[in-house]
Amino acid sequence: AGPTQEAIDPVRFISNRSSGKMGYALAEAACARGAEVVLVSGPTALPPPTGVEYCPVITAEEMRKAMTSRLAWSDTVIMAAAVADFRPARPSPQKLKKRRGPVTALDLEATDDILRELNERRTHQLLVGFAAETEDLLAHAREKLHAKGVDLLIANDVTAAGSGFGSDSNRVWLFAPEHAPVELPLLPKREVAERILDHMLTVQTGRQTSSRPSRPHRKE
Ligand code: PMT
Repeated sequence: AGPTQEAIDPVRFISNRSSGKMGYALAEAACARGAEVVLVSGPTALPPPTGVEYCPVITAEEMRKAMTSRLAWSDTVIMAAAVADFRPARPSPQKLKKRRGPVTALDLEATDDILRELNERRTHQLLVGFAAETEDLLAHAREKLHAKGVDLLIANDVTAAGSGFGSDSNRVWLFAPEHAPVELPLLPKREVAERILDHMLTVQTGRQTSSRPSRPHRKE
């Protein structure tokens, strides 16, 4: 859940407008249904939901490590986070000084695609991704469904009123291979979370339901 922050220097970063509300709503809804939930979250203003194991991260690389290290003993992964696609290639170790005139270039490099890596490494896990779109929602969502290799893709119209980043409600389409897309109306994020969890029950991974390693004991 949430955004990631990528340092420009010790006091500045690149990030996005994700509040974490969608991801936290999913964590709460799954927990209420009896799932054992680990919430890997970038920086947000939200309190961690009761009953979930909370794993705070800051950067895309920290999120990648947190997600990949837990994959083996998970059954389901839902990536609602707005992970930075780019980060400063050489963050400054010192605060950048104000210069005369505009800064015209900031060298950026691509971050690793966490969902793709999870898809390559998974065995039996159900993989759910999100797509934040500002145009051509259906076409881009279909592309991402295949490119990321997920079992379910939640396509988010982030320009619609009351939907997407920061809002308490969301308007999404659900895409799964071999299934017709399902359009949901504008709903509170908690209700969207419930509908996503319901839909996950109808989607097959097409993968072996092999026995998974047990989860390490949680430190209280
Ligand atoms: O947090 P809120 O304010 O409640 O807002 C919710 C939301 C808009 C952030 C959420 O509903 C949403 O759409 N999340 C996905 C945002 C996003 O980054 O979409 P994307 O289309 O750029 O990425 C597609 C998928 O790849 C996502 O599942 C993303 O988590 C994943 N990804 C992206 C980049 C990357 N380096 N690794 C990834 O795994």
